[in-house]
Amino acid sequence: MAYISNETINEIRNKTDIVDVVSKYVNLTKKGKNYIGVCPFHDDHSPSMSVSPEKQIYTCFSCGATGNVFTFVADFEKISFVQAVSLLGERVGINISGNIKADTKKDDYFDIYEYASKFYQNSLFTSLGKNAIAYLEGRNIDKETIKKFGIGLSIQKVSLTEYLKNKKYSLEKLIDVGLTNENGNDIFINRIMFPIYDLSGNPVAFSGRIYNTKDTSKYINSKETDKFKKGKILYNYHIAKEHLKKNDTIIIMEGQMDVIRASTVGINNCIATMGTALTKDHKNIIKNMADNIILCFDGDKAGEKATVAAIELLEDTGQNIKVVRLPNNMDPDEYIIKEGKDAFLNQIKFATNLVDYKIELLKQNRDLTDIKDISSYVNSVLKELSSEKDDIVVELNLKKIADNFNIDYDVLKNKYQSLKNNKKILPKEVKPKKVYDKYSMAENRLIYYMLKDEKVINMVENRVGYFPTQSIRELSNEIIYYFHKFGIVPVADFISFIADREELLKTLKDILAMDISENFQIEEIEDYIFVINEYHKEMKIAKLNKEIKEEKDPLKQAKLASEIMKLRGGIRNDIRN
Ligand code: CTP
Ligand code: MN
Repeated sequence: MAYISNETINEIRNKTDIVDVVSKYVNLTKKGKNYIGVCPFHDDHSPSMSVSPEKQIYTCFSCGATGNVFTFVADFEKISFVQAVSLLGERVGINISGNIKADTKKDDYFDIYEYASKFYQNSLFTSLGKNAIAYLEGRNIDKETIKKFGIGLSIQKVSLTEYLKNKKYSLEKLIDVGLTNENGNDIFINRIMFPIYDLSGNPVAFSGRIYNTKDTSKYINSKETDKFKKGKILYNYHIAKEHLKKNDTIIIMEGQMDVIRASTVGINNCIATMGTALTKDHKNIIKNMADNIILCFDGDKAGEKATVAAIELLEDTGQNIKVVRLPNNMDPDEYIIKEGKDAFLNQIKFATNLVDYKIELLKQNRDLTDIKDISSYVNSVLKELSSEKDDIVVELNLKKIADNFNIDYDVLKNKYQSLKNNKKILPKEVKPKKVYDKYSMAENRLIYYMLKDEKVINMVENRVGYFPTQSIRELSNEIIYYFHKFGIVPVADFISFIADREELLKTLKDILAMDISENFQIEEIEDYIFVINEYHKEMKIAKLNKEIKEEKDPLKQAKLASEIMKLRGGIRNDIRN
């Protein structure tokens, strides 16, 4: 790990509130002393992660993810611990990038993209950008919007590569980050440049659109890098996220122009997949954004396909999903331009709920005057309804089908009921609880309480000879060391202290995620210490017992038995207090 002093790390942590930071990524609700939310580290939709403002740590009771604010940001953003410290340091005005430089190779990626983005934006407003500005104005994109989305222009005559080389970035680096080709020329030439931001709002790529030329590809994007993966990024995420507190609905679109257009009419809670299919990573991001999702893909056949695929992917997130299908193959951009803001707002307001949309889809490729098709249609609808939670939606649909196809309502209801009952029989999978032997239990609890009360640290230091498990032994040593150095051991700071020791951190995380009562009695601690100190003796006895079983000679057996007796006596004499 790059060298940053523990004092600095702790200072940043002390100035940072974990609830503030985590709620940037996950919706949190206050529950008692703590906050709870959906854990972003495993596939889930019910809240199982608890964030403690008091201890400044988070714990997921389902997957066991736990740690302090740095590990949260590091794991969520897929950056290193040091990078997370640096990122959060910046937030509170503590700059540690100097420290990092000394030890690790600092990644110029973000700086380069920041420069490039500014460069393209400046180019747009030069005399060489007149046509591009005219194009954007023609599409009703005003200066304010251009600024808001950082839109720029790449120009053949003005080389970004040269500009960045003058900033002392090597050609290899520029090729590496996807701005320059192998011949040393700019990748993007004569295109309107849309910066693409990562989830934290750093520009990490560009999407470039042709504007006054014909080219086989309307858009070209930066190549994928470790910082830019289309499947892990959603256009406008960082802006939409800021607007969600009031809104709580996220609108998913296909293209950046759709998102930009929506923002020009005051709708800011939109994100775009940039033409790719939604991925599992997208899902994990989206499920933590809002309670409601509106899928608003292009009105064409491809948009319908994307809608169906998105439903399949997102259906089990527990979010309320609705669908907008725009008429005449229009995309949201075209629709807003043509029909206006209010028409679009109505589309959003009256978005179709999921069941209705799916039932509508089932009509496709079926001739609903043909008896066979009607029968298969009705059966599919009933199947769909059998997983619908809202009884009223079910009732309304059953009535509608009964009316439309002149089918006896009771027949439908019975069939629906039996489909629903069949579903219920499937038992829910229950995770088996991990069983710990008494030694592990004593070890884990001692560590847990050492981090709660310095009395326990003292007791362990003075009275525990030797923890049977190596990682526990090391953990205990580190806690004792930390205690002597700093006088107290706040668990959130201790996590930082051992962050670069994977095995130790994992052991600690496992312990923190255990269901251990917050309160303890001193007698309990005495018992744990007793159990640990008896470990070696118990092991010896177990070994002797095994030998007795294997021994044929009764004399030798008796000798072994008396050895055991002696040890057992020893145990009794050893009981303290
Ligand atoms: N896209 C891409 N490469 C292409 C075409 C599209 O990366 N060759 C991505 C872009 O992010 C684009 C999205 O897919 O925004 C949707 O594509 P499309 O519907 O074709 O573009 P529009 O959003 O309609 O863009 P415009 O209105 O500027 O034509
Ligand atoms: Mn369009």
